[in-house]
Amino acid sequence: MPSLVGSEMCIRDSPVYREAGKLISSARKIFTTGAGTSYHSLLLGTYFMSNIANISLLPSFASDFQSLHAPLCTKDDILIAVSQSGETKDVKNACEAFRANNGGKIISILNNLNSTLAEKSDIILPIASDLEVSVPATKTFTNQCLLFLLLAQQCINKSIDIDRLKNAVEDTISLSHRITPSVLRSIKHRKEFYILGFGITYPVALEAALKIKEVSYLHCEGMHSGEFKHGPLSIVEDGYPVFIISAKEDKIYTLSHIHEVKTRLGKVITIAPEDEQLKASSDVFVPIPCEDRYLFPIVASVFFQILAYKLAVDLGIDPDYPRNISKTITVD
Ligand code: BG6
Repeated sequence: MPSLVGSEMCIRDSPVYREAGKLISSARKIFTTGAGTSYHSLLLGTYFMSNIANISLLPSFASDFQSLHAPLCTKDDILIAVSQSGETKDVKNACEAFRANNGGKIISILNNLNSTLAEKSDIILPIASDLEVSVPATKTFTNQCLLFLLLAQQCINKSIDIDRLKNAVEDTISLSHRITPSVLRSIKHRKEFYILGFGITYPVALEAALKIKEVSYLHCEGMHSGEFKHGPLSIVEDGYPVFIISAKEDKIYTLSHIHEVKTRLGKVITIAPEDEQLKASSDVFVPIPCEDRYLFPIVASVFFQILAYKLAVDLGIDPDYPRNISKTITVD
C-alpha cells in the first residue's frame, strides 16, 4: 500500500506545497499534462480543483500539448506535469514546448525525484510512493490522485482525513478479494465491455479500462456515462457487460443509465457506495465502503486495480509485465 501518510506530511509540513498553492492561485492559466495513468490522475485532479477550489485546470495528453496548448502559453501561466517516472518522452517534450513558448513555472507531480523531469521543474511535489515495479501503474495513481485532492483542499485552507481514506482503501481491498469472483463471472468469455463513470468518476472509468486492457488484452472502453446513449449504446446486446461507477450524489443519473442498458438486455455491474435501489437495479453490485464524494473515486479505483489483477491471473497473464508495453516510454 503506498505511503499515503507521506503525501499528507509533505503537504502539511513542506513550504514547497505552500509555494505551489500560491502559484496555482495566482496563475493566469494552469495547463496540466501527462500520459497514460498519469493523465487519468490529472483528469481527476481537474474535477477536484474545479469542485473544491473553484480553480480551472486545462488538461492535455502530453503528446498533444504542443498542438493544443503550447501556442497559447505566456509567462503568467504555469504547467503542472504529472509523471511517475519523470522520464516519459512525451512529458519532457511538453515541458520543452512550454518553455519554448515563454511559459512560466513548471510544477511536477513526480515519484522519481532523480529524473529528467525533476531537473526541468521549478517545483517538485513528490507522490512518495516508493519504487513501483509493475509496468501498469497502481499505487502511484492512487497517490497522484491523493496529491491533487490534498492540493485542492490546501487551496481553500482545508485538509482531508487520511486515516479515513486508508481505512476505506483497506476495507475495499478486503471486499475486492471477496466479490471479484462474482464480477469475473459476469464478464467470463466476453471479449469486450464498457466501463462508465459520471462526472468525478469519469477519470476512474478511463483508468479502470486502461488497467484491464493492459493486463488482460481484452478490449475495454472507458466512457462518460452521459455520452453512452449518444451512439455507443448501440453495441449493447443480450448479456453485454457494462460497468457503471457512481458517486453517491450521482445516483439519479446512474439509475437512468442502468435503465438504458437493462432495456437493451445488457448486464450491469454497478460500483457505488451501499445503496438498496442501485443494488436492486443491477445484475451485480459492488458496495464500495466510502460515501465521501472526493475520496470515493480514489477508493473505487483500488477495486478495479484488484479486479484487473485477478482477471490477468485467471487468464494466465503476468499482471506485472504484460506484453507490448513498458514502464516508461522514452521515445516519441
Ligand atoms: C506508460 C506506462 O508507458 O507510461 C503507463 O505503461 C504509465 O503505466 C505511462 O502510466 C506514463 O508513465 P509516467 O512515468 O510518465 O507516469
